[in-house]
Amino acid sequence: MAESKVSVLDIIQAKKDGRKLVMVTAYDYPFGLMADEAGVDMALVGDSLGMVVLGLDSTVPVTLEMMIHHIQAVVRGCKRAMVIGDMPFMSYNTGIRDAIINAGRLMKEGGCDAIKLEGGVDFAPVVRAIVKAGIPVQGHVGLTPQTASALGGFKMQGKDAGAARKIIDDARALEAAGAFSIVAEAVPAPLGRLLAESVTVPVIGIGAGVDVDGQVLVTHDMVGLFDRFVPKFVKQYTMVRPTIIDAIKAYGKDVRASAFPAAEHSFDMSDAALVALKASLKEK
Ligand code: KIV
Repeated sequence: MAESKVSVLDIIQAKKDGRKLVMVTAYDYPFGLMADEAGVDMALVGDSLGMVVLGLDSTVPVTLEMMIHHIQAVVRGCKRAMVIGDMPFMSYNTGIRDAIINAGRLMKEGGCDAIKLEGGVDFAPVVRAIVKAGIPVQGHVGLTPQTASALGGFKMQGKDAGAARKIIDDARALEAAGAFSIVAEAVPAPLGRLLAESVTVPVIGIGAGVDVDGQVLVTHDMVGLFDRFVPKFVKQYTMVRPTIIDAIKAYGKDVRASAFPAAEHSFDMSDAALVALKASLKEK
């Protein structure tokens, strides 16, 4: 495991070495720090932040400004992990020039090391242009949440041979355009395996089975912080939400009973200063 900043070359080499890649989402400084300390290879500032952090119904309303704000915080926490900034909906769909400018803003203003965008064959020219501008790009195929309504909802993709073949063509087009890795979301496990065999760059699965080159999960799903729904492909490694609620309840109980703050949480003042203060209050 490299101790210096994880680079695009490290990510590509991992597949050649047969080393599985670990990616999680992070949206702020504490989670950036924790992901880094846990030794992940990549921290993705996903536009999923719209749902799990900002309480929106989908990722569609997420703006470039929101992404930059959260990327900056994660970058401050990640000294080693590669930080990838997600391009929000409509920040790369309106043309190559817009895509380069907006990807550039994520890197220049946000400070991330690479960007991710959703789409396959249709977006290959956009990926090629961003890569040519000097910005590493991670692709995203299969279920693409920004266009979930066009895909019929948050459903598994690539069920029949034709749909599965299209996803493989998407991944190949992204590789040919210069993407350094590709996220594959919500596809059958056998298709995940074929995807990983079809390209030389790492395929990072989320609901794509075990035979891909690495995995990504939304951290808030994985640690039990987001309770609106839990996708089938999520494993909850812990459940911090009840622990946090219990802590807030205990604090509320202490406050109402005047049991907090105790002496050790309070600042003191010298007797002399207090006597002088009280005397000055009597003067006026
Ligand atoms: O926005 C996000 O968190 C993502 C992951 C689900 C890969 O795109």
